[in-house]
Amino acid sequence: MNTFRSKYGNGLEIGHLIGGEEVFEGPVHERRNPSDREDLTARFPEASKETVRRAAQVARKAFEEWSRTPAPVRGGVLMNFAAVLTREKETLSRLLVREIGKTMREARGDVQEAIDTAVFFASEGRRLYGQTVPSEMANKELFTFRRPVGVAGMITAGNFPIAVPSWKIIPAVLTGNTVVWKPSEDSPALSYVFIKLFEEAGLPPGVVNVVFGGGKDSTGQWLIELMDEGLLNKFAFTGSTAVGRQIGEVAGRNLIRPTLELGGKNPLIVLADADLELAVEGAWWSAFATGGQRCTSAGNVIVEEPIYDEFKRRFLEKTESTVVGNPLLSDDLTYGPFMNERLFQRWSEHYQWGQQDGAKLLFGSGRIASSNPYPRFKGDPDAGIFGTPTVWEAAPGMRQFDQEIFGPTINLVKAKDLEQALEYANAHSYGLSSAIYTNQRHAAYRFKVGIKAGMSSINNSTVGAEAHLPFGGIRGSGNGTRESGVWVIEEYTYWHAVNEEYSGKLQLAQMDTAYAQAREATDWAGLLGTKEVVG
Ligand code: UN1
Repeated sequence: MNTFRSKYGNGLEIGHLIGGEEVFEGPVHERRNPSDREDLTARFPEASKETVRRAAQVARKAFEEWSRTPAPVRGGVLMNFAAVLTREKETLSRLLVREIGKTMREARGDVQEAIDTAVFFASEGRRLYGQTVPSEMANKELFTFRRPVGVAGMITAGNFPIAVPSWKIIPAVLTGNTVVWKPSEDSPALSYVFIKLFEEAGLPPGVVNVVFGGGKDSTGQWLIELMDEGLLNKFAFTGSTAVGRQIGEVAGRNLIRPTLELGGKNPLIVLADADLELAVEGAWWSAFATGGQRCTSAGNVIVEEPIYDEFKRRFLEKTESTVVGNPLLSDDLTYGPFMNERLFQRWSEHYQWGQQDGAKLLFGSGRIASSNPYPRFKGDPDAGIFGTPTVWEAAPGMRQFDQEIFGPTINLVKAKDLEQALEYANAHSYGLSSAIYTNQRHAAYRFKVGIKAGMSSINNSTVGAEAHLPFGGIRGSGNGTRESGVWVIEEYTYWHAVNEEYSGKLQLAQMDTAYAQAREATDWAGLLGTKEVVG
């Protein structure tokens, strides 16, 4: 690695990390600070198919020893990693602000989520329980063991550049697997530093390998195709539903069970009895935290008719207080820039959808620029790509109601009662997060059993999952796999059932088993003389 001076700190000139070596192979790309395009955070190469293949071969070799390393020893590396990440939390958070444009507060949360994950799995190394199971025969014992699956390919998005990779890499490594990771092109410097810190914590060479590059017709695609070459045993992906489907197809024909964490169009219901102040704040945060660039961001706020007008008034008032800008210059922002041009294009397009589909624009005027100022903007709006908070009145059937936009936009939707609100909350093709604001227990219950989602909040926002609860969705949001907590262990291990025979004989299950024999039945009703009694 080389460093060079850039506008808000040093930039990194980095290579792929393969087998503990840094490999400078492939055309070099740049990552620029999305808040200020003059600031370069990294120059990174794009890995060819051959480089990716080599990384997988190195990972296969490293698997031999790492999978045999005792789990508590592997957990010890994570214990060190948690300490190293804690030590470097501020540095990493500042780099996160620079490289992807989160606010410092949110950046610290992102890094903290990885620390929490490392702490959780460090001690899991001393559990990783299997079971002892009674045999149906004497002198025989049964056991189950968790075994690592092998080499895991991973592709992650840039919006949670530390937290989301940690949900995958940390449990994979703890359970004895090795990894080839293709991080987002939006966060190369962060991904590099993250794995260098992991190495510093004692991670052996080749256990986690990093290949940089793009997605389609680039490194990401080459990594996916390695499943067809038999070089990967597992795949984990966070990103779009369209790419998730492709990975699912390749994985399926290779009998690999992928972890797919995909898009969302998360509903947030507000019932007439809700604490309105709480609901307005929760809905606003769900919509605009991270500038809407979370898979858990709210897409539709569905409000019960009697309070709709009042909610709308208060929500627009709250929206007006939203502060946007360059997070390196102020720490009291709601959100910063779009992470990349592609997300901005998508968000711009939805303004047209809104007009064509008959949605009503209540707040927002597209891209913030010196020619299109936003009153609560801090910094130079022309230095990056920033969007005004945007609020629509919309209805089911409109494109913006159903499709994930991944930017600072939200739809307010009126529903006549709880049943209609629930119907609307399910009237899209995703199923990741969801929320309801109500103080009626039966309404909360109705929501819990009626909502189609992997995660639900009662009187809380759609975002902000804790690091040890299962994270994931259903329908277009994923294939039912879960990350975080004990649940993710299922994704990186298979169950190995073992029986051990001590009898010195060939005892045959089902055939030699001494099944209990029932005795001849007694006619109890006859004995008690109750046969004729009515009742
Ligand atoms: C994502 O956007 O992919 O629950 C993950 C949350 C965060 C993680 C979001 N802890 O909002």
